[in-house]
Amino acid sequence: MYQLIKNEGTARRGRFETVHGIVQTPAFMNVGTSAAIKGGISSYDLVDLKCQVELCNTYHLHVRPGDELIRRLGGLHKFMGWERPILTDSGGFQVFSLAKLRKIDEEGVTFSSHVDGKRIFMSPEISMQIQSNLGSTIAMAFDECVENPSTREYSARSCARTTRWLIRCKEEMARLNSLSETINPYQMLFGINQGCVYDDLRIEHMKEIAELDLDGYAIGGLAVGEPAEDMYRIISSVEPHMPANKPRYLMGVGTPGNIIEAVSRGVDLFDCVMPSRNARHGHLNTWSGIRNIMNAKYAEDLSPIDPDCGCPTCQRHSRAYLRHLFKANELLAMRLAVMHNLYFYNTLMERIREALDNGTFKEFHDQYVELLDTRI
Ligand code: GUN
Ligand code: ZN
Repeated sequence: MYQLIKNEGTARRGRFETVHGIVQTPAFMNVGTSAAIKGGISSYDLVDLKCQVELCNTYHLHVRPGDELIRRLGGLHKFMGWERPILTDSGGFQVFSLAKLRKIDEEGVTFSSHVDGKRIFMSPEISMQIQSNLGSTIAMAFDECVENPSTREYSARSCARTTRWLIRCKEEMARLNSLSETINPYQMLFGINQGCVYDDLRIEHMKEIAELDLDGYAIGGLAVGEPAEDMYRIISSVEPHMPANKPRYLMGVGTPGNIIEAVSRGVDLFDCVMPSRNARHGHLNTWSGIRNIMNAKYAEDLSPIDPDCGCPTCQRHSRAYLRHLFKANELLAMRLAVMHNLYFYNTLMERIREALDNGTFKEFHDQYVELLDTRI
């Protein structure tokens, strides 16, 4: 159940209630693709890092260790030792971005596993069955993430199929939730908007899926190489057609600047591999821009990564120490850097929520939107 607390322009401050607890929005979901955050971060770390929701992937967990196994062990929450909300992506995107030799038809997608090349078939029903076995808080619909560029004709046909698949997802999820042996009988389902860069297709598709009364709505198929301006324009065109009483999720986005722009256009939820991936390359987010910790100028710098950061890394360690760990290829470099960046993203969302509470989001936007994406 989503409750709107306050608006500032189109930006929304909200509260999203789930069986695994309340999510204060806008929120960033921390990506743990294979039931782990890359960089050696555990579920107990995530609590310290102010993570509200963890995101895992249907496709990866189906391939390894197998969703049936996770089900037998009591579900994904128990398996990972994480009690708060989990969102599982449907496999729709990963099948199109990772898997080789795929064949799409009305029934579903056939492809080979990126682990052992084995042929796998995924359909709306199978994706729902896998996500039901995982018992996540929120399941995502099985969609086709259309490549950019794609022709208008292809995008229109694909959107129509994504809608038909969504109807099948909804029916199958209702059936699975009603079974007595279901891990999470309250599992929610979010629909995904597609339509490539064609505003009219996007709007038409959003109107269609809004009628299905799902638990939330995502915008997919963005941040796949199109200019940021296209992404902002598409969000603004579909936003008026997204149900106001449901959470809105922009998939796979993005930089702090992208997030601030999307919040100002009415988005509530985000996820991205960027903070953890960048951290593993030594690119650290700070309140004055992005720092490359490998830089020689930090060799004897005893200050923390960011003097304004309250994360476990900044409480104890210096830039000089972190630079050394990276240069020496120590595993600890990854862990300390990822902890810092995830804490930064979760704190960014907290500060966005505070600004919305105080009616000062416009000032927050103007102060940080460019600064946070600048390299220093
Ligand atoms: N993650 C990022 N973009 C997408 C998308 O379009 N569909 C799905 N299922 N996941 C995504
Ligand atoms: Zn820090």
